[in-house]
Amino acid sequence: MVSFLITYMSWSGNTREVAELIRRQLNEASIDVTLYRIGSNAPIPEVTAYDAFMLGSFTWGKGDTPTKVKKFIAQVGFKPDLVYIFGTGDTQFGGDDLFCHAATKLAKFYHSPLPPLRIEQSPRGHQEQFVRAWTERVIQHFHNWKRDEKAYGPTV
Ligand SMILES: Cc1cc2nc3c(=O)[nH]c(=O)nc-3n(C[C@H](O)[C@H](O)[C@H](O)COP(=O)(O)O)c2cc1C
Repeated sequence: MVSFLITYMSWSGNTREVAELIRRQLNEASIDVTLYRIGSNAPIPEVTAYDAFMLGSFTWGKGDTPTKVKKFIAQVGFKPDLVYIFGTGDTQFGGDDLFCHAATKLAKFYHSPLPPLRIEQSPRGHQEQFVRAWTERVIQHFHNWKRDEKAYGPTV
């Protein structure tokens, strides 16, 4: 069975809600999901045991990535082949330029094949459709990637 690792950092719950919506949709598509909250005391799951790695983060300060997320990335210690990024933010902190800037930077850092999902605060309400559409894109991308890997071998 295909399995994804979703890791996320959340203080006030918005990013956690996004992570849970993504998990539900992946489960509906028969993808097994392990959720890991960055900053919890639980040991970090073995990243290489999963077919894809997801990282979700809010943005802090002025477009900053939370320190705990940076530490987590260092602890993981390598860049997995296939990384999908999501984030939450708030445009009232620095407008469009800094909106979900951590997610934008993380997607670049990991050479994510898809643009990051960026949600304004809580995903509840009209933004749920954005989570759904993005997750659907992830599922399609993943299956195409797997198919190509089988046909042509690893590309990374
Ligand atoms: C001090 C502070 C600084 C913030 N800076 C930004 C920012 O630069 N860009 C942004 O998009 N959101 C910013 N935010 C908004 C948070 O990223 C947003 O509320 C997020 O949804 C919180 O995630 P969480 O509920 O998962 O903890 C800031 C929030 C606080 C309190």
